[in-house]
Amino acid sequence: MFGVASDLVILLIAIIASLPTAVPLAFTGVTGRASSISNSPPKLFVFDLDNTLWTPELYQLPPDPPPNSVRLFSDVSSIISMIMSKYPDAKIGIASRTKSGDLARKLLPTFTEFQGTKKIRTLFDYVEIRTGDKTVHFKNLANESDILLSDMVFFDDALSGRYGNCVPVAKMGVTVGYCPKGMNMEIFENLMTRWFMGERGVVIHPPHEENMIRGSVLRYFKDKNYGFIDIPKVGEVFFHSSKLIGLDRSFQSGAAVDVELGLDSKSGKQCCTSVKLADEQPPTPQVKIKMPCFSMNMPFAALVANGVKCVESRNNTMFEQYEGKTVLLHVGKRNYPDGGEHVWILKERLLDVEEARTLKVGRKGKIVAICEIGKTVLVEDEKGRSTEGMERAVVARGNAMGKYLTQIKRVEYLNKAQWASGRYGVYEQEINLDNIPEGWHADIVK
Ligand SMILES: *[C@@H]1O[C@H](CO)[C@@H](O)[C@H](O)[C@H]1NC(C)=O
Ligand SMILES: *[C@@H]1O[C@H](CO)[C@@H](O)[C@H](O)[C@H]1NC(C)=O
Repeated sequence: MFGVASDLVILLIAIIASLPTAVPLAFTGVTGRASSISNSPPKLFVFDLDNTLWTPELYQLPPDPPPNSVRLFSDVSSIISMIMSKYPDAKIGIASRTKSGDLARKLLPTFTEFQGTKKIRTLFDYVEIRTGDKTVHFKNLANESDILLSDMVFFDDALSGRYGNCVPVAKMGVTVGYCPKGMNMEIFENLMTRWFMGERGVVIHPPHEENMIRGSVLRYFKDKNYGFIDIPKVGEVFFHSSKLIGLDRSFQSGAAVDVELGLDSKSGKQCCTSVKLADEQPPTPQVKIKMPCFSMNMPFAALVANGVKCVESRNNTMFEQYEGKTVLLHVGKRNYPDGGEHVWILKERLLDVEEARTLKVGRKGKIVAICEIGKTVLVEDEKGRSTEGMERAVVARGNAMGKYLTQIKRVEYLNKAQWASGRYGVYEQEINLDNIPEGWHADIVK
C-alpha cells in the first residue's frame, strides 16, 4: 500500500520543518515626536485643472468640444465653499500646465456650480495657465500675490518625473496634496489636518484605500496627540494624531477605523501612517459554505490549533482522501483521557508545560480552526512510531497512537469560532465564509 520507509522519512522531514518556532509578537511603536502646531491657515490655495478640478484632460478633447464635455469633480464645489467660509482671508488660485490654455480660459467662466450663481472664474484670485514646469507658475504666483511659498498649498494629480508637479513644487516650500484620481474632500481634509500639525514643504499622499485594513481604536490620548489601534492578527499599533484623516479628531475608543500600516521614520517601528473612520457598511448577509470538518477533544484540539501537534494519528484512513485539502477543526465537549501522557511528552521535548496548558482554543463545542491536511502514512510497527520526533509531533506515545499518521501541514484560527455539534470521522459542516481567515482557499463540499 505505502512504501513505508521512504514515506515515513518524508513525513519526518516535513514534521521537523513544521515544528513550531517562536510565536511572533505583535509590534507596537511609540515615538517621542514633538509636534509644532501652527494655527494660521494657508494664505493661498492653488489647484491644478486637468484631472484635479475637472475631467477629462483637455488634450483628450476634440478641437471644438461640445458644451458640457468637461465636468468638475463632485467634491470641488464643497471644497471651494469650505475654503471661502472657513478661511475667508485666503486667496484661491490656479496653476495649470497645458497646451490648451485658450480652451481652459474659455471653460473656466462656464462653471456656475458654486452657490448657484457665482462663476468659478470670479472665485480665483490668481490664474497661471501656461506650458512648462510648474516651478515657474509658482514663482509668478509668489511674485504676483506677495504670499510666501511656505504659506501656500497646492493640489495636483501629477506626482514626479518629467511631467510631475507635486515633487518640484513641494521642494520650493509649498505644501502639496497629491490627488491621483482628482480632488476629493478626503484629500483636502487630510492635507489640512497635516498642515495644522505643522507639516510644510512636503507632498502629502492620499490614503491608499487598497492598503487599508480595519481596526478599532483602543485608546486615544487626545492631549498627547497619540493613541493605539487594535488590528486583528497584528495587535496594538501606535498612531500619531497627524495621521488622522479629516479635521474632526473626535475619535471614540472602540470606533471602527481603516488604517494604513508603515514604519515610523525615527523609531523604525510599525505604526499607522493613516487612520480614518471606517465607512459604515450596511450589514451584508452571511454567506455560508460547506466544508469538510473533523472533531477532536481537548487537550489535543488546542495542541493542533496552536501548531504544537502537527501529526494526527488514527486507526482508520479517514484523512487519506483529504491530502492537500483544507478541513475545519471542531473542539469536542470531552477531554481525551491519555493519562496525562501529553504533559510528559511536552516536558521531555522541552515545551513549557504551563504554556501548553494555557494554549488558547476558545470554548468547547466550537469550530475553531482551519487546517491543511498532508500525507497519510501507514506505520503498523509500534517501534516505528515510537521515535522521539514522532512522539513529539503526535504528542502521544507510539503505543497509544493510531497506525495511520497524517501530517497537518498548516493551521490557523478562524476569524471567529462558530458553535456546532461534532461528529465522528470527517463530515460536512456549514460555516460562515467570513470566518475563514484570509489566505485560505476553502475546499467547498459540493
Ligand atoms: C514680478 O512682477 C513684476 C510685475 O508685477 C515684474 O516687473 C517682475 O519682473 C516680476 N519678478 C519676477 C522675479 O518675476
Ligand atoms: C489504535 O488501536 C490501538 C490498538 O487497538 C490502540 O491501542 C490505540 O489506542 C488506538 N489509537 C487510536 C488513536 O485510536
